[in-house]
Amino acid sequence: MEKLKKVRKVPPKVGEYYLVRTIYGNWLGMLDNWPIIGPKHSDDEYFHLSEDHYHIDVRFTDPKFHTHAEAFEKVILANNKVPVVWRKRMCHASWIYHTLGVCSSVIELNQHYAGQTARAGKSGWICPHKKLSLGEIQPDAFGVITCPLHGLRIDGKTGVCLGPEPREGRVLGVSALKERLAYLEARIEANLALAPAE
Ligand code: FES
Repeated sequence: MEKLKKVRKVPPKVGEYYLVRTIYGNWLGMLDNWPIIGPKHSDDEYFHLSEDHYHIDVRFTDPKFHTHAEAFEKVILANNKVPVVWRKRMCHASWIYHTLGVCSSVIELNQHYAGQTARAGKSGWICPHKKLSLGEIQPDAFGVITCPLHGLRIDGKTGVCLGPEPREGRVLGVSALKERLAYLEARIEANLALAPAE
């Protein structure tokens, strides 16, 4: 019988199958078994979401959702009667972005943890905010890991929380810029498609 890997230490490879945690529920208006990343949590302190929820692991969703205007922001509410189940899923993207950008909640969160050092887990740093294991998250061109759940910035080498993203003076590598540009263009297209005609 095929032995499937769980995503843990390195980013998953596109086209390969993994065992992924899923939960049945409503995401983007559709009931299905959706892949999730990270622990069940609420975000009352910084993001004003007091209900328990999970974040969707978009890497294991159909690529048609990757340009969906809301796919990265929308979470799935946790229902205590619905169990988390490991299921076989194909990887459609090796990346997962944090997309709240530099909103005030993300800045506050980063200010709060600035200078603290993340705990080292078996598979990489553990995000000190809600304890997401970051071993499977790619650092950017500057070696910074941005937690995909809420945007905490951590030095990939030392585990030190770096504080909010500098608004000026940061030069991204060409490939990082191209990647962000392509991502933003796709999101603009998706938003335009949903926008009411003026
Ligand atoms: S779990 Fe919230 S920023 Fe990492």
